[in-house]
Amino acid sequence: MESIPLGLTFDDVLLVPRRAVVRSRKDISTRSPLSRHIALNVPLASANMDTVTESAMAITLAREGGIGIIHRFMSIEQEVAEVLRVKRAESYVVDQPYTMTPDHTLRDAREFMSLHRITGLLVVEDGGRLIGILTGRDIRFESDPDKKISKLMTPREELVTAPPGTSLEEAKKILQKHKIEKLPLVDKEGVVRGLITGKDILKITQFPQATKDPRGRLRVGAAIGVKGDYIERAGALKKAGCDVLVLDIAHGHSDFALSAVKDIRERLGDVELIAGNVATAEGTRDLINSGVDAVKVGVGPGSTCTTRIVTGAGVPQLTAVMECAREAEKKGVPVIADGGIRTSGDITKALAAGASTAMLGNLFAGTEESPGVTIMRNGARYKLNRGMASMGATISRYQAEMPQMLEDDLTDVVPEGVEAMVPFRGSAVEIAHQLVGGLRSGISYLGARDIEGLRKNAKFVRITEAGMKESRPHDVDVI
Ligand code: XMP
Repeated sequence: MESIPLGLTFDDVLLVPRRAVVRSRKDISTRSPLSRHIALNVPLASANMDTVTESAMAITLAREGGIGIIHRFMSIEQEVAEVLRVKRAESYVVDQPYTMTPDHTLRDAREFMSLHRITGLLVVEDGGRLIGILTGRDIRFESDPDKKISKLMTPREELVTAPPGTSLEEAKKILQKHKIEKLPLVDKEGVVRGLITGKDILKITQFPQATKDPRGRLRVGAAIGVKGDYIERAGALKKAGCDVLVLDIAHGHSDFALSAVKDIRERLGDVELIAGNVATAEGTRDLINSGVDAVKVGVGPGSTCTTRIVTGAGVPQLTAVMECAREAEKKGVPVIADGGIRTSGDITKALAAGASTAMLGNLFAGTEESPGVTIMRNGARYKLNRGMASMGATISRYQAEMPQMLEDDLTDVVPEGVEAMVPFRGSAVEIAHQLVGGLRSGISYLGARDIEGLRKNAKFVRITEAGMKESRPHDVDVI
């Protein structure tokens, strides 16, 4: 048998400090590529897990300069709706506002508004001519669900509109003058060409770091699998304006994954595509040769993962990131360190080891923005964090996709993840601020101004358990 190499993870090492070159952490750039064609001001992505990322998380993280990857454990329509919510969250013009025709009932409108989580919609005739607006105020106290929306809307003659191409400044003036919140853009024929809302205008100036597409909309990623409807799902997500698809399976170095990558490339052309997960140079090379724009690295490091215990396979995350990043660098393809990040120091180490971005599940799972409810236990608040290969997640998947399977025995299912509770941690904004602050400080300790400098200056020192014990607070009662 060959000699066995040593695999290391975050707690096995520290970064050796170098002479600092910046006076303030504010002078440090954390800009880094997510994939070949997308860069982030903050190198953080939220994990595509059903207890971590739907539109609320994706919107918050994109505003903070990172990106959220919507999970795929829902119908194609639902995943598309999540993506659309992000794409519509923040641009001063909504190009294709939600519309309904006047013959629809209040029931239809309420369902539509709740699916898309919107508070108003434009009412149009066939051909797209504007005939009214229906807002929350128009329907708040209406009790007849069968009433036509034409009877409830504010009609065209009472609306203020503007032509397409109205500038941000002009729009602000019109909204102010008429004290209105929504300004439909209509062409000479009266056809709807866009919508400007006061809320969107306010948000643009609030988040200068935000991750935006060329049209000023927040960027978002969405996950797809490698079986069943994945091509249809990928096509629908691309059409909805999703910026990057993440082909995600536990063992990304597989014939299934490689042929799925090729398939998507052939059928969807230039879509931005990330794939994973892998933990070796060979896995990275094969994915890159199949046509991916970034490689997601991590087999078993995640907080809710039991893959290494159940299968005996995996590579400690720091070694995995180093080997994969070394391989990917030859082709100029970024690597995402996915799983096992517990502190800002782990992020600094992952980036120093060659990753361009870190993907976080656990740290974001306990926030306001993660899907799911808050649980109370012994007076404290918690949220759920479950592995996507856990028993609970598998049962939910069966319930949604193939309920007949639930009638069978589930003893064939071998979970590779656990379900857990994590303390409620407030908003993801605060978590992101703490993580980015720590990363900036780490870059400064390494004598660098940016992530490229961090990587260049990085020298790891291996530490012992005693070294790790010394690194944490000790001999005190932490309050
Ligand atoms: P953290 O540590 O940030 O890791 O919570 C998030 C990542 O964990 C992976 N993941 C799993 N891995 N079984 C696994 O072996 C699972 O059930 C599972 N669920 C999530 C995934 O890569 C995620 O981004």
